[in-house]
Amino acid sequence: MSSVLLTGIGELVTNDPSLGDGGPLGVVTDAALVAEGGRVVWVGTAREAPPADAAQDVGGRAVIPGFVDSHSHLVFAGDRAAEFAARMSGQPYTAGGIRSTVAATRAATDEQLGATLTRLVAEMRRQGTTTVEVKSGYGLTVADEARSLALARRVTPETTYLGAHVVPPEYAEDAGAYVDLVTGPMLEACAPYARWVDAFCERGAFDVDQARAVLTAGMAAGLRPRLHANQLGHGPGVRLACELGAPAVDHCTYLDAADVEALASSGTVATLLPGVEFSTRQPYPDARALLDAGVTVALATDCNPGSSYTSSMPWCIATAVREMGMTPAEALWAATAGGARALERTDVGRLAPGARAHLAVLAAPSYLHLAYRPGVPLVAETWGD
Ligand code: NIG
Ligand code: FE
Repeated sequence: MSSVLLTGIGELVTNDPSLGDGGPLGVVTDAALVAEGGRVVWVGTAREAPPADAAQDVGGRAVIPGFVDSHSHLVFAGDRAAEFAARMSGQPYTAGGIRSTVAATRAATDEQLGATLTRLVAEMRRQGTTTVEVKSGYGLTVADEARSLALARRVTPETTYLGAHVVPPEYAEDAGAYVDLVTGPMLEACAPYARWVDAFCERGAFDVDQARAVLTAGMAAGLRPRLHANQLGHGPGVRLACELGAPAVDHCTYLDAADVEALASSGTVATLLPGVEFSTRQPYPDARALLDAGVTVALATDCNPGSSYTSSMPWCIATAVREMGMTPAEALWAATAGGARALERTDVGRLAPGARAHLAVLAAPSYLHLAYRPGVPLVAETWGD
């Protein structure tokens, strides 16, 4: 195994408060990092760096942990650009739009689905993402959900069974029978390919009892729970996720005081998805109120063809800073360490000895530029697996 010294780092974000400036980002200036066998083995100042087998000088650029995008739906066919355009002229977003992607996905071959998935993962990687969670949810038959997860498993270990995305048209008159399928034969076929179980707990999708049934069945099959909740309106989903001890509950756009209190006292991460509010013309979630209440916040893209067709974590950071009351430091932490918490991962989202050497070299002297220079391709190089 050979070691590599990355040196000349103007600003190294470690996300380890015991390093560097002692803040949550653990920023070391004039820094260096040594990687060996895909792991970080040393970080510190460049002048103290040990020798290594090879060296790369990044000339004063900033280095950050690779982004951990803890929420995406990359297994799909077709696009819904016309639906987006209609929303921009005043049409509301509804959960029912998911069904048009379901029809296109069912009609696609594995090769077509795999090609889109690979293209989007590569697009993410170019923007600094080194860990991505991928959900099923556009198949909604036993075979189509299982193949969606088998395809997702090829690109990430963070796969999520979302058979409870929406009730498919063939079960429109009998949602209960669909929940029985999702908690029975579909779960059995999908569990071997999934680490997580998820449900869309929202008006127009699944109610709280149905979501509870799906998550508890998934947990009994050995999957870890997470939930889509409180995206389109107030409701009991966030509190359900906290009650079940889910590591994360995603969207959190419409919260009342009891939801915030439940999040703060449960340790469940609130994953905020600014691409959704951008693309659906909804109000952004109030990250400031969550952070001030002591809630752990993650940022993710929710990349999907309906509600948020962005793959860019830098864009999410810039938008969260400008529209959601986050500081640049909070937003970067949420997009890296926060995503790792949401996925119960301790090996990613940080750059300290023992962590994976997953990082992004920025074409900028500081991580501040991620928000300061919105829309600019600032990721010069990505190191991942
Ligand atoms: O996370 N909220 C539910 N699922 C997706 C939307 C998917 C779609 O509109 O196709 C989401 O926003
Ligand atoms: Fe989603």
